Amino acid sequence: MKRIFALLTILAFIQISVLAQVKSPVYKDKNAPVETRIKDLVSKMNLEEKILQLNQYTAGQNTNINNIGEAMKSIPAGIGSLIYFGADPEYRNAIQKKAMESRLGIPILFGYDVIHGFRTVYPISLAQACSWDPALVTEAAAVAAKEANLSGVDWTFSPMIDVARDARWGRVSEGYGEDPYTNATFGVATVQGYQGKNLSDPYSIAACLKHYVGYGESEGGRDYHYSDISMQSLWETYLPPYEACVKAGAATLMSSFNDISGTPGSANPYTLTDVLKKQWKHDGFVVSDWDAVNQLIAQGVAADRKEAGLKAFMAGVEMDMTDNIYFQNLKQLIDEKKIPMAKIDDAVSRILRVKFRLGLFDQPYTTIVDESARYLQPESKAVAQKLAAESMVLLKNNSNTLPLTASVKQIALIGPMADNKANLLGSWAAHGNEKDVESIAEGLQKEFDSAAKITTAKGCDFDGNDEKGFAEAVSAAQASDVILVCLGEKREWSGENASRSTIALPAIQEKLVQELKKTGKPIVLILSNGRPLELVRLEPLADAMVEIWQPGVAGGSSLAGILSGRINPSGKLSITFPLTTGQIPTYYNMRQSARPYAGKYQDIPTEPLYWLGHGLSYTTFAYGDVKLSTASIKKTDKLTVEVEVSNTGKVAGTETVLWYINDPACTISRPVKELKYFEKKELAAGAKTTFKFEINPMRDLSYTDATGKRFLEAGDYFVMVNNQKVKFTVTE
Ligand code: NOJ
Repeated sequence: MKRIFALLTILAFIQISVLAQVKSPVYKDKNAPVETRIKDLVSKMNLEEKILQLNQYTAGQNTNINNIGEAMKSIPAGIGSLIYFGADPEYRNAIQKKAMESRLGIPILFGYDVIHGFRTVYPISLAQACSWDPALVTEAAAVAAKEANLSGVDWTFSPMIDVARDARWGRVSEGYGEDPYTNATFGVATVQGYQGKNLSDPYSIAACLKHYVGYGESEGGRDYHYSDISMQSLWETYLPPYEACVKAGAATLMSSFNDISGTPGSANPYTLTDVLKKQWKHDGFVVSDWDAVNQLIAQGVAADRKEAGLKAFMAGVEMDMTDNIYFQNLKQLIDEKKIPMAKIDDAVSRILRVKFRLGLFDQPYTTIVDESARYLQPESKAVAQKLAAESMVLLKNNSNTLPLTASVKQIALIGPMADNKANLLGSWAAHGNEKDVESIAEGLQKEFDSAAKITTAKGCDFDGNDEKGFAEAVSAAQASDVILVCLGEKREWSGENASRSTIALPAIQEKLVQELKKTGKPIVLILSNGRPLELVRLEPLADAMVEIWQPGVAGGSSLAGILSGRINPSGKLSITFPLTTGQIPTYYNMRQSARPYAGKYQDIPTEPLYWLGHGLSYTTFAYGDVKLSTASIKKTDKLTVEVEVSNTGKVAGTETVLWYINDPACTISRPVKELKYFEKKELAAGAKTTFKFEINPMRDLSYTDATGKRFLEAGDYFVMVNNQKVKFTVTE
């Protein structure tokens, strides 16, 4: 009897398991390994379903005037991804429901440009890098991820890690400046903030490294333009941030608009497949930039849309952003045997892998949380506040004009940025709302309250030639103890398709300062912009200058804290400020020149106004002599360099020490110096601390050749910090 019962139990169990298998396939089993789930699902998909996964359409209204999408009336349930312009999780869930209820129930990946915050907007990326505080940038990215995720976003098209050395290019604002190491470090920090420890963690969203690769080199600073990049520069300058972020686990990449010496970034088998997939073993996917597949025709490498699709797909672009070319042409290309099925399966698997890793199959819907609990939470605003304060750079401070002392009783607050909110948000401000922003005027009012009287006068607009407001501004200035002049760029002057032939501010803004100067009162220039500026005419008129960039929601109060001395500025530039536009390109890590003492401009100085790394404090720091653990190491050894830094001023301050390397004689010519490490520490007044850098020769001294192969040569090297340059030797 017992045996019969056992047999029946086993039979029942087998039947239940079989039924369960029929009902719930392996790909739906959240405990099955991701690769098993992918294989199972791909084996069940028909060709139409596979092709749909390779396409991205739009949902909602695109407000980016450069990329107006054709309105998608009906969204196919099997679409791979949507650019989702909304912020309403119920709307997203309704679309997702359609997908989940379709034949195979494959969730849609909702992507959006969350670049420097979702609703709690923090400073633009270029500014973030001036904080030299990657841990804080990770926190900010995590805030953005949470707000975005709770609004229905699974995937952000960020970070942009395009090394940018031409400030005319509007997109310098979106990356971390001119240096590969800085872009790599802040890129990794941002990826970690978005993706968390695990993509499937609550609130994690997938990152997308862009624009792969070399987009920052667009000729003449003109967006979408050709870029001529040698293989040496590709490997030395443009690829390293991508390699670092791929190794840090970035889920996806976006292919670039630019043409890399004849082969566009969106049809480049070398960068997209040989380097990314074969060499770096990236197993996520690449999405084209908006219409970038179609643009291959304009770029002159495809005769028609079908050929464009073939080229992009075969090069290694798995998902077609919005131009509908894959949807319309892949089937025919497969029938004609121009695209092998195995390549389609690989592309689909890559996209599904990201969806599985995000946990979308198991939790496809967004949890509904009220907006009041989603956005602008006190802890999120605190991060925005800290990052804004840390990213502002005190460029100049003659005779301690700043911080303002108690004797300042009348402040004239002048300029088009003085009481402006929208422009402080910067480009790509996602769902940022100007009503959340604290303007400079509001920040100052709160900070100084009854301690000083603030009189605000706009003086002039950002551009144009209307000088009617000058008189009011001058009379406010005359009655003041100090003039704060808030100048800068409108938010749409930088960002995508926002190139400028000059990086000077419009003449009207310069003229306003010239008029104010005549009052003889001290002038503090406050600059809010998305790129380095040509300050050659303004700098001599200023007693002090603060670069606040486009600081986001907490800009006003952070600046006010710096002006009052509540916050001691600690930001340092992540990009060089040329003296004039004609000096472009000027960047700190130029290659060594044949005649460093010559090769000068006849009409202007050769030195820029401020190099990368420039930034003042209200205290002073003294550097001791650099000490090496040894003056000579073997290639396999490590060397520790250290420097003692003392706070010699009267207030606490924060110093970032930037460590550079120079190789004076090598098989290939190396840059005059290359940033290899940085560290930031706070020091009480009178305190001292030691900053250390452990040199790992293969990592820090080697160079890559034009194929990406690394070499380390024996010989002399220099380590550089502050204004010291110390030699050491590497032997076999
Ligand atoms: C075009 C931009 O180049 C890219 O950065 C952005 O992510 C996409 N459009 C999507 O909006």
